Formats: sequence, structure tokens, C-alpha cells
Amino acid sequence: MKIDAVTIFPDYFAPLQLSLVGKASQSGILDIDIHDLRQFASNNHHAVDDTPYGGGAGMVMLPQIWGLALDPLMADDTDLIILTPAGKRFDQSMAVQLSKASHLVFACGRYEGIDDRVRQHYSNQMYMNKNIRVHEISIGDYVLGGGEVAALVIIEALTRLIPGVLGNPESLNEESHNEDGYREYPNYTKPAVWRELAVPEILLSGNHGEIAKWRNAAAQKRSKENG
Ligand code: 6GU
Repeated sequence: MKIDAVTIFPDYFAPLQLSLVGKASQSGILDIDIHDLRQFASNNHHAVDDTPYGGGAGMVMLPQIWGLALDPLMADDTDLIILTPAGKRFDQSMAVQLSKASHLVFACGRYEGIDDRVRQHYSNQMYMNKNIRVHEISIGDYVLGGGEVAALVIIEALTRLIPGVLGNPESLNEESHNEDGYREYPNYTKPAVWRELAVPEILLSGNHGEIAKWRNAAAQKRSKENG
């Protein structure tokens, strides 16, 4: 999968060199490029924003600069993801959908966001004869300083679903959030007693039927409490 991200803070994306995503980049499963938006700002102070038409607080990111940054990235069959707290809430089913894409472009807004005409411009399904889909995505109901951390969250959630990225693909079947509101059972490892706390005895029994029953009940309890 090809992933591009456009940002005024490329350093935010340093963690992509670590862990599973970092390994997948080295092995060629992922091809990730981070682009500095400010390089496309040719004006005096390399400004990327201006005051909003209609008034109000904050600054809005300039459409021309986004156009210059995004045009060369918009190949055929691209999903453009605009990060904004006003977007559709990201969840596991979106991660599954996006993990099947061939090329993702993340547009990380700062300030009060990106001039909406950038979304409109690329939303033409057949923009320049290219098959482009635009998504406005939020990662939850709180406000971040910008879309960079949200892009990292989305990239981590979807890339681990790509075959070959996860060390043990079996864990994909067992984990929580495959279904809405479902929470996985608690896990334990050695030692059997730690600071006077014992692992539930059934898990040491080797009785797989009873263990499955216990885990189901524990997952239900957790889903009720946390789901
Ligand atoms: Cl995608 N961006 C910002 N700035 N804040 C957010 C968000 C995105 N998702 C949740 N809060």
C-alpha cells in the first residue's frame, strides 16, 4: 500500500519508523512518504493560512497551497483522507475498509481546518479522469491541535490489517472491537500468583471448553462495564 501524508509538521510522523509499521515499510509492504506543506507556500512568510471569510476566531488553511501539494499525489485510484474533528467518526469497520485501498493520502489540517473547496475540488469522482474518493474523518469527540496524531492513529489501525504486517495474524480474529461495543476478556501470563493475586484457576486447567465459557462470560461483563 502507498501512503502519503501532507503536514506542516513532518516530524510528527517519526513513529512510523518503529514497530510493525516501520518493519512493513522496510520490507516493502508499505511505501510511506511524508510531505512538508510549507514547501508549497511561495508567499513572503511561507504562510499556509489566512483569516476566515465571514469573520470569527482562528485561521483557515489556504486552498492554493493544498492544491499544489495534493495535485502531484492524486494518482488513479486514490483515497484522500481529510482529518478534521468535523469528520465521520473513525471505527474498526472504517479501518477494515481503508485497509483494502491501494493508495491513501492524508491531509492534516491545523488551525480551524482547510478551506472547504479543497474537499469539493477533489470530490469529483472522476477528477481529471482519476478515480478519487474523499473522506473527512475524525478519530473521536474531542479536539486536537491538528490532524497529525489522528492520521497516525488511522495508519496504525488500518496497516495492521494488511496481510503480512502483523506478526501473528491469528490475533486479528480474537481481538475486541471486531463488533461494536464488544470488549475482549482479560488476559494473564506467568507467574500464576503475583503480589498475592492469583490467575483465575480455570485458565490453568487445560479444559478448553470451560476456558472458552469463562472467557465469554468475562467478555460479556467487560462489555457491559466498558462497551
Ligand atoms: Cl481528525 N483533527 C483534529 N484537529 N481534532 C480531532 C480529530 C481530527 N479527530 C478528533 N479530534
